Order: sequence, then structure tokens, then C-alpha cells
Amino acid sequence: MVKKIGILTSGGDAPGMNSVLLGAIRAGTNLGKEMYVVYDGYRGLIENHFEKVDKHFADNFYYHGGTIIKTARLPEFKDVEVRKIAVQNLQKEGIEALIVIGGDGSYMGAKKLTEMGINCVGLPGTIDNDIASTDYTIGFDTALNNVVEAIDKIKETMSSHNRCCLVEIMGNRCPDLTLYAAIATNADFMFTIDRPFDGEKLIKELNEMKKNGKDNVMILVSEKIFDLEKIASYIRLNTTWDTRVDILGYIQRGGSPSGMERFNGMRFGRYAIELLDQGIGGVCVGIVDNKLHYYDIYDALALPRKNNDELYKLFDDIK
Ligand code: ADP
Ligand code: F6P
Repeated sequence: MVKKIGILTSGGDAPGMNSVLLGAIRAGTNLGKEMYVVYDGYRGLIENHFEKVDKHFADNFYYHGGTIIKTARLPEFKDVEVRKIAVQNLQKEGIEALIVIGGDGSYMGAKKLTEMGINCVGLPGTIDNDIASTDYTIGFDTALNNVVEAIDKIKETMSSHNRCCLVEIMGNRCPDLTLYAAIATNADFMFTIDRPFDGEKLIKELNEMKKNGKDNVMILVSEKIFDLEKIASYIRLNTTWDTRVDILGYIQRGGSPSGMERFNGMRFGRYAIELLDQGIGGVCVGIVDNKLHYYDIYDALALPRKNNDELYKLFDDIK
């Protein structure tokens, strides 16, 4: 039976990761496991950056954003020789199993480590909500609240000045943050990977809005797909809207995790311990229809992207 379990956070940080830590560390120590944190994601495995922790390690941090055990991206981890160093270091320390909190890329690292003898369980930690095997990723709810709060503020000032604003929203090409925020803030337009920019339609509607006396226009745009400055120039050229661009950026990723994030973080953390205790590894965990499930990581990564047709229809139906 597994005795020593490590836990690391990898990829972009996400509010709620510290709650997962608390859930896992407490559930693990209560079961008699020795719990270790690994600093700096996979890099900590290579650099022997482990720390044995007691039950109370996360007590004063679980409600903070970010990740107290740091995170990193380590592209070299794709190299089997680099992973061999990680496995040797873990074995030297006697750590037999790992919880990896991160996104798709981190899951792949977790699967490969499992194949090399270290049982790993992946937990979905990313603000992007871009993991097909779960309805919800840790960090998404808080990031969405951050986006909504920012948009409310931008809208107020746009309205005072009778302006139009293009707001760029993070999400690594996944539409969810843009789509959910567009619905939640009653945005006028959105452009995402599924909703391409249609210049003619946009200009026609913007001119109509101006004619009808509308005092602000909010256009939400997913990052990494569109050139917002170009779209702004196009709008200025073809309408009388005074148009600005605002990039939300890292403001989305920081901040204290929402109640839902903390709640689910605890659930994920405890569940990962249960799986490892049963000798299950090479899997990732998702919440589907509000129930915890686990999937083989290769199967999870092969799932098609979530279908958001119903949400786009909702956006259109309330326009
Ligand atoms: P995320 O986990 O948020 O998707 P990344 O795609 O940046 O973020 O992946 C995080 C880390 O996972 C990478 O920096 C790398 O260390 C590891 N990783 C990604 N892909 C692989 C892979 N194919 N094999 C092994 N490790 C990987
Ligand atoms: O995956 C989370 C995320 O914040 C994405 O939304 C964004 O594209 C990316 O990370 C930014 O990464 P970095 O922290 O390297 O700038």
C-alpha cells in the first residue's frame, strides 16, 4: 500500500489550487500517509525540491489565490532522460505516488511518469476550463468572476464616454471564459474560436446601435485568435463609435478563490488520495454532472472539445 505521496502544481496557476492542497494533505495524513509537496511543478522533481509536510501545511493558505508550492513549465520534461532523473529522485525519497494539478500538458507528464513506475493522478487546475474530461476546472469560477467584475467596471466608464470597447479575455483559445462572461454581462458581441469576426454584420449593427441612442458597446474577444487593434481601427473607420481596446490579462488569474473553487478543490484533493490509496494511477479526475469520475489520461486527452452550441444559442436568445 502506498505510504508516501507527493503533490505538485504545473502549468498556469489557478485560484483554488491551494484548496486542493489542503484537501489532499489532510485526507492523506488522516489515512496515515506521509505527504510531500514538490515545489515548481515538474522542475522540482528534477531539482529535488521536496518538502515533507504535516496536516496543517495549507491551513493558512487554502483561501489564497495562486499556488503556494509554485508552478512552472518545463518543456524538457517531454524528454524521457529528463523524466528518468525525476523518477530516480522520487525513488530516493521513497515517494511512490504523485498528485499533479494542472492542464492537459501536465496530464501527459503524469501519464508518462506512471508508465515509469510512479502512480500519478491528474487533477484539473486551469482557469481556461479547456479540459474535455471535466465540466469544470479549478480556477475557472474565480477567473470568470474576475472577468465579470472587470467588465462591469469597463462598461461603466464606456457608458459615461459613449464609447465602444473591445475586451481581450484569456483562455488559451478555449472559448469558455469569453462565452460565459458574454452571457453573464449581457455583452453586445463576442468573438471566439467558434464565433468568427464578421465585419459587415458588426458594422451594420454598431451603426444601428448608435442610431438608437445606445451609450456603450461591449465586445468580448478571446485571446490568441484576433487582432483587437485591427478590429478597433476597422470600427473607427466605418462607424462614429469612439473605440478602445482593453486587455484583461493576469488580473483574471489572480485573487482569492471563490467558495465553489474551494469546495471543489477539497473534493478533488480527497478523491485523488482515495484513488492512489487503491493503487489507481495514470488517471485524471473530472466532475461530470456534479459527480467525481476518473478516466485513463490517454482516453481523456482523446475526447473531443466540449460542445458549447447551447450556450451560444443562449447568448443569441437573450440579445
Ligand atoms: P498545462 O498543464 O496547463 O496544459 P502545459 O501544456 O504548459 O500546461 O504543460 C505543463 C507542463 O507539463 C510542461 O511544461 C511539461 O513540463 C509537461 N508536459 C507537457 N506535455 C508533456 C509531454 N508530452 N510529456 C511530458 N511532459 C509534458
Ligand atoms: O492556461 C492559463 C493561461 O492563463 C491562459 O489563459 C493563457 O493563455 C496562458 O496561461 C498565459 O500563460 P503565461 O503565464 O505563460 O503568460
